[in-house]
Amino acid sequence: MTATVESTATPTTTSMPRIGDPAPVFTAQTTQGEIHFPGDYAGRWVILFSHPADFTPVCTTEFMTFASLEAEFAAYNTALVGLSVDGLYSHIAWLRTIKDRIEFRDMKDVEVTFPLIDDVSMEVATKYGMIMPGEDSTKAVRAVFVVDPRGVVRTIVYYPLSLGRNFDELLRVVKALQTADAFDVATPADWRPGDRVIVPPAGSCGTAKERMEGAEEGVECVDWFFCTKELPADVVESTIRTGS
Ligand code: BEZ
Repeated sequence: MTATVESTATPTTTSMPRIGDPAPVFTAQTTQGEIHFPGDYAGRWVILFSHPADFTPVCTTEFMTFASLEAEFAAYNTALVGLSVDGLYSHIAWLRTIKDRIEFRDMKDVEVTFPLIDDVSMEVATKYGMIMPGEDSTKAVRAVFVVDPRGVVRTIVYYPLSLGRNFDELLRVVKALQTADAFDVATPADWRPGDRVIVPPAGSCGTAKERMEGAEEGVECVDWFFCTKELPADVVESTIRTGS
């Protein structure tokens, strides 16, 4: 016999920006001074991310990893901005502790130089839907908003409190979005630079037929709606990687 469990809890709803929306505007105090978001980042990609609390272990590993990848993200014109609902002095004390005392994997003496937002009021976290009361009503979950140089939200990823983020994936997301924009292509499952990319679908019966007959050089079609082409890693990298 199958047991049925009926929930009596009232579901809560949270508003949040959606993919394709302008990133909600805010001004905030951070560990690097005041920021105006997203205006201060015009022309750059940004990863705006929340974490549940200072002086907690999973968050500590995430901050060390973000900080050690900061230069790599910067090479793809991408800035990092963190947030938690802790205050500025807590942030400063925690980041000092990380630098002075914490070793994790091959990382030590790690200095976090990207801004960490003081959001004690929860204003920004609420605007971005980072508080998920079913998980915790007083802490932000691990939200990630990838915002493009025009200030538009392009990708949103959420993780619960217990699960540290995958940073290879975040870097892959940035590279894939930038590649899609630069080459007018889409990227298939698990795509990485050097893998074949998907060309936009044929917009007419004529193009569909031509593609299936192999008329477009370098384009291979699995079916009329599913065509790919080569895009070498060095071409991708030399286009999207703007720093060393
Ligand atoms: C952590 O970062 O370790 C953590 C934070 C909040 C809840 C659970 C874990």
